[in-house]
Amino acid sequence: MNIGIIGSGTMGSGIAQVAAASGCNVKLFDTNEKALATAKSALNKILDRLIEKGRIDTEEKYRIQSHISYVNSLKDLADSNLAIEAIVENLAVKQKVFSELENYVSKDCIIASNTSSLSIASIASSLQNPERCIGIHFFNPAPLMKLVEVIPAIQTSNETLVHAVQIISDWNKTVAVAKDTPGFIVNRVARPFYGEALRIYEEGIADFTTIDSSLKELGGFRMGPFELMDFIGNDVNYIVTETVFNAFYNDPRYKPSFTQKRLSEAGYLGRKTGKGYYNYNENGKRVIQSGSEESHNVTSSVVQRSATKELAETIFNRVLVMLINEAADALFLNVASAIDIDKAMTKGVNYPKGLLAWADEKGIAWCVAKMDELYNEYHEERYRCSPLLRKMNREKKTFY
Ligand code: NAI
Repeated sequence: MNIGIIGSGTMGSGIAQVAAASGCNVKLFDTNEKALATAKSALNKILDRLIEKGRIDTEEKYRIQSHISYVNSLKDLADSNLAIEAIVENLAVKQKVFSELENYVSKDCIIASNTSSLSIASIASSLQNPERCIGIHFFNPAPLMKLVEVIPAIQTSNETLVHAVQIISDWNKTVAVAKDTPGFIVNRVARPFYGEALRIYEEGIADFTTIDSSLKELGGFRMGPFELMDFIGNDVNYIVTETVFNAFYNDPRYKPSFTQKRLSEAGYLGRKTGKGYYNYNENGKRVIQSGSEESHNVTSSVVQRSATKELAETIFNRVLVMLINEAADALFLNVASAIDIDKAMTKGVNYPKGLLAWADEKGIAWCVAKMDELYNEYHEERYRCSPLLRKMNREKKTFY
């Protein structure tokens, strides 16, 4: 199988590694020669590290490397069975590349985009044969993250969908099929993890550390929302939120937060700048500055522990029910199946449980009651209960 990849940046080079490791012949194209050279040496380093860890042997390293060629002309992708684009997130640039590529490839070649935020329909519209176009959305880092969202546009043929799902599954990835709607599954359903945590902080209910530890200790999340935002980068995370908010015609459920906007404006981007919600040393490790709010929390944490159990539960339940409500709404609007929504959140962002399975465990009546409690308190659209949860509660149904 011949795979063409357009753009040799973070995502393109990761996808190339995945395809090559599965035995495909990969051609990695970039307009920038330096980006190609960087991708080549970065892969060499990554494979050496995998050898050190004992995950692969030298033979496997050379096998993967021999499956990737680095090319500087789009024409070189002519023999691709599947071409995946991972260039700059700009619709006009993507459309131009897609319509040029279509002149070179065979009529059976699937042309896919790794876009996170543009609609697949708008990208497909640049092709003479848009039935061959589909979204294939990997997560960063592509070789490590199990999930791939596959997104058919309204123009996409069923044949293209079936074939794309088959290829990505053969690459040992978990596929979740999503409707061509803003944020697809993960970037939509995960919004309250950040947004509700920020809201709780802004209301002065708790500080960053308390919110993070509540979700980790009571929910089993690997990272708290503030740790995760610092890890992703407050600039990147803010833009995803703003993009989803705009794409949903300013639905207040996705409203971005001023707290995060100010951090982003100040250059407090998180780990990569040494400062975000927390402070980091040059190796990206958390450091606690004496006299800071965080150091105060740590020294008094023993005293706080029992007194704040109730607060931790309030925080955890509030964020969890908002996540469940978002997942239920995605199902209600047929963004994906229940199984794919749960798979997306466990394999794409490592949630400890699928949100719909979690809803069953907590009880649908509990979810409805919690949402109504929030709505009655605030009277904001943000807290309206999904009609699906309400209907299921009436009919005494569960998701599974
Ligand atoms: P990047 O900036 O690391 O790499 C983009 C590469 O595309 C650069 O090497 C650039 O030289 C090249 N490029 C730009 N215009 C080109 C053109 N006309 N033809 C050929 N090459 C061109 O970007 P990154 O982060 O890899 O993102 C790529 C795409 O993947 C974007 O659409 C982004 O939204 C999406 N994405 C990014 C994720 C992330 O976490 N970084 C996660 C999932 C999707």
